[in-house]
Amino acid sequence: MNTIYLIGFMGSGKSTIGKELAEVLSKKYIDSDDYIENKHQEKIPNIFKTKGEEVFRDYETVALKEVSAYDVVSTGGGIVEKEKNLKTMKNTGVVIFLKTSFEEVSSRLKDDINRPLWDNDIEGKIKLFNRRIPLYESYADYIINTDNKSIKEIVREISGVIEEI
Ligand code: S3P
Repeated sequence: MNTIYLIGFMGSGKSTIGKELAEVLSKKYIDSDDYIENKHQEKIPNIFKTKGEEVFRDYETVALKEVSAYDVVSTGGGIVEKEKNLKTMKNTGVVIFLKTSFEEVSSRLKDDINRPLWDNDIEGKIKLFNRRIPLYESYADYIINTDNKSIKEIVREISGVIEEI
């Protein structure tokens, strides 16, 4: 099986759904953010603080290549910031965009303090969201709308898509 890459904005449920999907399919799962933190022995907010976003993006691009050995990969929300990442994903698997509304994402991330790029005023958040959505859409082989759906429903929908490939 080719790798299933889940992409989408912060708070779209990539990790929760990725884990559940891998379990249902009995496949190997990894979260690319966890992989980066383990590899570099540093938490992501700290990487941003001490080394800056550019260094994090470089770590992420290398990590993405390394995790392509897994079956299900939850990527970080900024994976679409580098076109190289698209190549890696297209060469090794299928890209699924979990599309979640800004309202839903905002409510899920209300008390979040672990995402440096969410630590912004409302205009900044909306701007990032609006810039990213077309990128996710252009990277995606399949788009799954997640608003008002349970995790089980979303996993079932993805499984259906995968079966058809
Ligand atoms: C980021 C999303 C985060 C993490 C980092 C940067 C982004 O991952 O990779 O904070 O640029 O959108 P999640 O999408 O899992 O929150």
